[in-house]
Amino acid sequence: MSLQGSKRQHERGTLPPLTKPNGQMMTSQTAELPPVSITATPDITVSVREVFGIDSDMTVPAFSERTDHVPDKDDSYLFDHDTTLAILAGFTFNRRVMVQGFHGTGKSSHIEQIAARLNWPCVRINLDSHISRIDLIGKDAIVLRDGQQVTEFREGLLPWCLQHPCALIFDEYDAGRPDVMFVIQRVLEVEGNLTLLDQNRVIRPNPFFRLFATANTVGLGDTTGLYHGTQQINQGQMDRWNIVSTLNYLPHAQEVAIIMSKMKLDIKDASVKQKVDSMVALAGLTRSGFMAGDLSTVMSPRTVIAWAENERIFKDPAFAFRVTFLNKCDEAERGIVAEYYQRCFNTSPLVRS
Ligand SMILES: Nc1ncnc2c1ncn2[C@@H]1O[C@H](COP(=O)(O)OP(=O)(O)OP(=O)(O)O)[C@@H](O)[C@H]1O
Ligand SMILES: [Mg+2]
Repeated sequence: MSLQGSKRQHERGTLPPLTKPNGQMMTSQTAELPPVSITATPDITVSVREVFGIDSDMTVPAFSERTDHVPDKDDSYLFDHDTTLAILAGFTFNRRVMVQGFHGTGKSSHIEQIAARLNWPCVRINLDSHISRIDLIGKDAIVLRDGQQVTEFREGLLPWCLQHPCALIFDEYDAGRPDVMFVIQRVLEVEGNLTLLDQNRVIRPNPFFRLFATANTVGLGDTTGLYHGTQQINQGQMDRWNIVSTLNYLPHAQEVAIIMSKMKLDIKDASVKQKVDSMVALAGLTRSGFMAGDLSTVMSPRTVIAWAENERIFKDPAFAFRVTFLNKCDEAERGIVAEYYQRCFNTSPLVRS
């Protein structure tokens, strides 16, 4: 299919709109990528050691050409060993992989960045409580054809993804509504055909369709009190996920390396390294404070990255800390957080510099 043809299809709505996997509109640069349908099968293999920097002899199938819906590559991304191997097994052996862990630890971005390196088209759907069954499956819509109003079935994202070499990520999987979860249950099995009852049609999955999910809980309910809006997941459904990988807070040195890499900081600059060390140490204190029941808010790796970015804007670590984290904390707990800051930076975060 020509690029023009695909654009016309996008306009007619037979393909999902040109949005990036993260939901933003595509930039003119990415919008010009050829459509997903030009690549029927992965045509190259890549070495896990070379591409992901992971000590493994595994090779994984990949596409030689970037097409639309392939996520943008973040060159500063550092891959975690266990999470990456689990996700790569999903891509290579068509395993259903769920990545579970605290917020902001890199679950969604790991899947997306792996897809970016394999040139595997990827669609992310946030399973919030507003996503309904018809959003996923599709619905009848009235369209104008040759000046006539006709009713036409518009496929939702699930049938579209199923029929393409495409990785579908269900984000916030534990927040999905029960009616939606039962639709997904059918496609969780690798041979799982999707029956569109009102269409009298059975959709067989493309051999390179892949399914992933991310969740903050393991489907047993929210035991931490951090994740309102999540639900328990039916165990029959959990049973269908072939691999469940956990991505929680990484060891201190690994988190420091992620922040340095993300902020493009020079690892040899001792004073910068020490500052990032202290930032991550402070995040660690909030996490142990949370475990001990002293705090109800924790600093995620995402918070630390946001703090580093805000520090670059305001050129003041204490001010950046206040606006990034301290102001989100319960008033009664701010004293404890300020004390943690004092321990790591030898100064109070409340003093204006
Ligand atoms: N290993 C990493 N290397 C580089 N950046 C990372 C890494 N892990 C996480 N990040 C960055 O941290 C931020 C949070 O990551 P992400 O959104 O993937 O977290 P998440 O676990 O999906 O969070 P949530 O549970 O809230 O959805 C992103 O900006 C991401 O780029
Ligand atoms: Mg996420």
